[in-house]
Amino acid sequence: MERTFIMIKSDGVQRGLIGEIISRIEQKGFTLIKAELKQPERKTIEAHYTEHKGRPYFESLVSFILEGPVMAMVIEGENVITVMRLMIGDKNPEKAIPGTIRGDFANNTTRNLIHGSDSTESAEREINIWFSEGS
Ligand code: PPS
Repeated sequence: MERTFIMIKSDGVQRGLIGEIISRIEQKGFTLIKAELKQPERKTIEAHYTEHKGRPYFESLVSFILEGPVMAMVIEGENVITVMRLMIGDKNPEKAIPGTIRGDFANNTTRNLIHGSDSTESAEREINIWFSEGS
């Protein structure tokens, strides 16, 4: 059993896609361990995306996430990290395959609806950032 951190980004919440996305996760057989609608602080988002600081898209990414509440979740299941990344799909709309969440609902590299951890180390780090006291 493995855990991952999943965030439905501000565009997914604004577009009313929380139910659709959680439904896909549950239909796949994964378990929702924690879920909280949060208006994140800039420091939380910057900590989450710390390895992307200095990249040209960093500032627009942070301001986009700050637009409104996000749904922060911990999801559990067998191989959940890899399988959730497959279900999420590519961030590039030209590569996001239909049937994936981004392939079905996103058409922009930044406003791409959802984040999923890419490794066990990232999952642990991100869960601590989003679900520690004061975040
Ligand atoms: S990279 O480019 O391979 O280092 O990127 P990656 O590891 O996929 O993570 C990049 C995160 O930033 C989000 N993002 C963008 N990436 C590239 N270009 C643009 N314009 C951009 N805007 C936002 C991208 O979605 C990744 O975040 P998450 O939340 O993991 O999807």
